[in-house]
Amino acid sequence: MSNFSLHTHSCGELRAENIGEEVTLTGWVWRRRDFGGLIFIDLRDREGLTQVFFDPDLCDSETFATAETVRPEWPVLVEGQVRHRIEGQTNHNLATGEVEVLVSRIEVLNTSKTPPFQIEDHVDTSEDIRLRYRYLDIRRPSMMANLKLRSDFTFAIRQALHDRAFMEVETPALFKSTPEGARDFLVPSRTQPGHFYALPQSPQLLKQLLMVGGVERYYQVAKCFRDEDLRADRQPEFTQVDIEMSFVDQDDVMGALEEVLSDAFAKVGVEMTLPLRRLSYWDAMDTYGTDKPDTRIGMELHDVTGVFAASGFKLFASAAATDGQYVKAICCPGAGVWGRSKIDKLANVAATFGAKGLAWVAFKADGSVQSPIAKFLSEDEIAALKDEMGANPGDLVLFAVGERLATDEILGGMRVHMANVLEVAREGHDFLWVVNFPLVHWDEEREAYAAEHQPFTQPEESDIDRIEIDPLSVGSHTYDFVMDGYEAGGGGMRIHNAELQMRILKLLGFTEERAAEQFGFLMEALEYGAPPMGGFALGLDRVCMLLAGADSIREVMAFPKTSSGSDMMSSAPSEVSDAQLEEVSLRLL
Ligand code: AMO
Repeated sequence: MSNFSLHTHSCGELRAENIGEEVTLTGWVWRRRDFGGLIFIDLRDREGLTQVFFDPDLCDSETFATAETVRPEWPVLVEGQVRHRIEGQTNHNLATGEVEVLVSRIEVLNTSKTPPFQIEDHVDTSEDIRLRYRYLDIRRPSMMANLKLRSDFTFAIRQALHDRAFMEVETPALFKSTPEGARDFLVPSRTQPGHFYALPQSPQLLKQLLMVGGVERYYQVAKCFRDEDLRADRQPEFTQVDIEMSFVDQDDVMGALEEVLSDAFAKVGVEMTLPLRRLSYWDAMDTYGTDKPDTRIGMELHDVTGVFAASGFKLFASAAATDGQYVKAICCPGAGVWGRSKIDKLANVAATFGAKGLAWVAFKADGSVQSPIAKFLSEDEIAALKDEMGANPGDLVLFAVGERLATDEILGGMRVHMANVLEVAREGHDFLWVVNFPLVHWDEEREAYAAEHQPFTQPEESDIDRIEIDPLSVGSHTYDFVMDGYEAGGGGMRIHNAELQMRILKLLGFTEERAAEQFGFLMEALEYGAPPMGGFALGLDRVCMLLAGADSIREVMAFPKTSSGSDMMSSAPSEVSDAQLEEVSLRLL
């Protein structure tokens, strides 16, 4: 590290080998203890903590008097000699715990108001207060460690990409709408009244144009903006490691991505075994009930429709007799011993995933069976169910009945809920690809087909003839990178043919005029020798959240927004003056 004029070492640096050295440290006063005529201060900077102490017999009276006045969070400079801590005082939990500094001079660099919360890892305050004083929150060692981890991982992935001849190219933030399924943030133009820029939801179109431009291997640590409902893993402004390659096929792209990802994860101490497992979208849905499965949990979905073909339970029997209807189930180890009312309450949880009710069978520890539908089920059905589910005494089987995706979604949701309630251990990290998503789905609200990934995705070649006839059956060259049950990244191969691109846009409800208005520049570029291309975007915030073991991406962002999209420090978004509105030709309703 470079030498700075104010200090010789950081507060995390001194070890036994420094004993006897004269050092200068700078940092914040964390704790001060007056102790039998001596004053001890824990001095903290971003690298750690060092104990410094003042002995009235070994420093001048002014220094000692100053030490008596300093308060928590005052930044100070101390000069002194590194000593071994006395017998019994060494702290093995602290990197600097063997030593302390006997101070000969202290300089108060500034004072501080009493902070609104203690600068400790386990801080007992609301998140709103932490965000209001984020600069103090960042001083907490756990937040600092998260920011450091993010910096290390970002650097590592940049390095991995640079090493493989990827070029970082910046793309504009003032641009035109790029459809990634959310609302745009609009920016009014002053010079062109009534015209707006849109902040990019991703650099998708621009990176495709860079491929047409011959960049061949592009990346960018890119800010993306999406006006959508916020959740723990969603912010209106977030960061992608955005990647695109040309003159490649899907296996080339996925192979390159695996190398880059495993290199970058290795740099932060996480091993990734290659090649990663690949699951098709439909296999993921049918086995785990989600397109972002955490495969560490177990409790896989089973299709038990056949078990109930002749059941006395009408709901199951009629599903078994109807095309496209299924009876599916998951087996929750250990939940069968729960009381009936506790199990019945699970129906409320299932309702949040779209279930109208929740049938269940509990295999009791004594070998008996408890279930509200037990009287309708034969002994053979119960035996077949137990066998199919691999259920043991003490297990609980939960059912969903209905269409394929609807049953998948209910049980996929219940599976994760039960894993959380049962505290199923999830050790290490879980990485996999989910591939070959359908090209489109039917959007009930808009009553139109919508792109499953985005409108520029290459359909499966063998399905191209069916685009207009049976769009829902068309597959696509797509891949999501799933980490610990989160969609940590996604990408696909792109259409590089203008005619095919227009067919897809029409399927998605665009007229030729609207397509030309919104994407004319892309359509035109495709006619100038666009190469085959594909790419990917890694959700950097989500990956860092999972690496840090945090439960929200806010924990790995320096200045995140609240769930209502506010910045608690600056009060953004805020009102603007009439003059500012007038300048951009706007009037509020
Ligand atoms: P996609 O929309 O899947 O793909 O985004 C890629 C990844 O970005 C992360 N992500 C988010 N993270 C935090 N807050 C959000 N609001 C948010 N939205 C998305 C996710 C997601 O997997 N242009 C395509 C990529 C491509 O095809 O190359 C795209 O943006 O981890």
